[in-house]
Amino acid sequence: MNNKKRSTFSGGFGFVLAAAGSAVGLGNIWRFPYLAAKYGGGIFLLFYILLVVTFGFSLMIAENAIGRKTGKSGLCAFRELSKKWGFIGIIATLIPMIIQPYYNVIGGWVIEYATKYVTGNHQLLAQDNFFTDMLASPQRLLIYQFIFSAITTFVILRGVQKGVEKFSTILMPVLIVLAIIVAVYSITLPGAMMGVKYFFVPDFSNFSIQGVLAAMGQMFYSLSLAMGIMIAYGSYLPKDSNLEKNVGRIELFDTAIAILAGLMIVPAVFAFSGGDQSALGKGPSLMFVTLPKVFESMGMATVIGSVFFILVLLAALTSSISIMEAIVSSLCDRFGWDRNKTTICAGIGSFLFGIPPILGYNVWDKATLGGMTILDMMDFATNSILMPICALLTCIFVAYVIGVNSIHDEVRISSAFKRQKLFDIMIKYVAPVFIVAILISSILEALG
Ligand code: PHE
Repeated sequence: MNNKKRSTFSGGFGFVLAAAGSAVGLGNIWRFPYLAAKYGGGIFLLFYILLVVTFGFSLMIAENAIGRKTGKSGLCAFRELSKKWGFIGIIATLIPMIIQPYYNVIGGWVIEYATKYVTGNHQLLAQDNFFTDMLASPQRLLIYQFIFSAITTFVILRGVQKGVEKFSTILMPVLIVLAIIVAVYSITLPGAMMGVKYFFVPDFSNFSIQGVLAAMGQMFYSLSLAMGIMIAYGSYLPKDSNLEKNVGRIELFDTAIAILAGLMIVPAVFAFSGGDQSALGKGPSLMFVTLPKVFESMGMATVIGSVFFILVLLAALTSSISIMEAIVSSLCDRFGWDRNKTTICAGIGSFLFGIPPILGYNVWDKATLGGMTILDMMDFATNSILMPICALLTCIFVAYVIGVNSIHDEVRISSAFKRQKLFDIMIKYVAPVFIVAILISSILEALG
């Protein structure tokens, strides 16, 4: 991503592919189901969808428009529009720097699972202790995390991310078909219907402020918002391609995959736990513990498990490529650094910073905060604190510094802005007030 030769996507479709490649990843398949399971199922889903179509929509429009208007990546775009507010770009760039290391760790888990399936070890994976044994071994975690970081770095170094994106988007329909098959199977397991109900029907007695905060963080994370990524992508969007329509497509696609992943996993948790509700609170391990059991009971576990985890790996890679690209392109744009050297430093840096979250599961397992491991803490710091702050600042910036009109004008270059009223109300009033209220009440809850 070099300013002098800033190429554009070959029309809206290329943009949707790349943005969807960034958006669809571990957030949809690994993170969404465990949060939905933990925070009350239907009520979490309801808040999540509400947030996506209102706030997520508005923020994604704003970020894409800022990017297209300035032709700059996250770190520089704010600065270009207002020197005083350039610091938002710095916060936005810090976020992917914290996410990348732990994303690599989870990507490493996926590689380990994929390898074990391909080599015919499916029974091992379906055992209860496989996951905990894996976490207990820093060596194993390090090797797989290294492989994942190395692939990401290699793709960026060779500049082949477009190729990877195309390749994986061609395979995404296969992932969707496979996910539908597994989801249908999960739903029909004995005892699973209770899980379907739990997942879809909001039970207001499960409402919690923490759940709403988690839904908001997940919305940012899953849509790759509030960290400069969509700004960088917007800068590659041709002026004649319909911004509003493309944003709608990305949201629909991303949310559909998250729901599908939820349907693969949540009902199966009910089916396999024999009514033990505590299984729902498992957190980051949920997908890795539940899915192998589903595959095992389906039969053909080697084939299904291999194909599934390889596809998830691809989806994770396109996301991690976008995270590293955001870091590298921002630094190169801003400081004029050499792209290859910056990429290698980013690769080494993300590998090294991935070591503490790995050790947090074994050698440093006493280093917890309110029950959170180091990986959980990094995830919490970005998704529940820094991203809401960055989103809040972006809203204030758009509403009161550059003015909503400048975004309207940018959107209108290519089409009418149909949901302009919604956009204005969200950015000016609802989103800022909502974020502040949620942040304050969750701090109060944590203290009390
Ligand atoms: N949106 C990606 C996912 O759902 C994760 C991601 C986070 C991508 C941050 C880019 C930046 O997996």
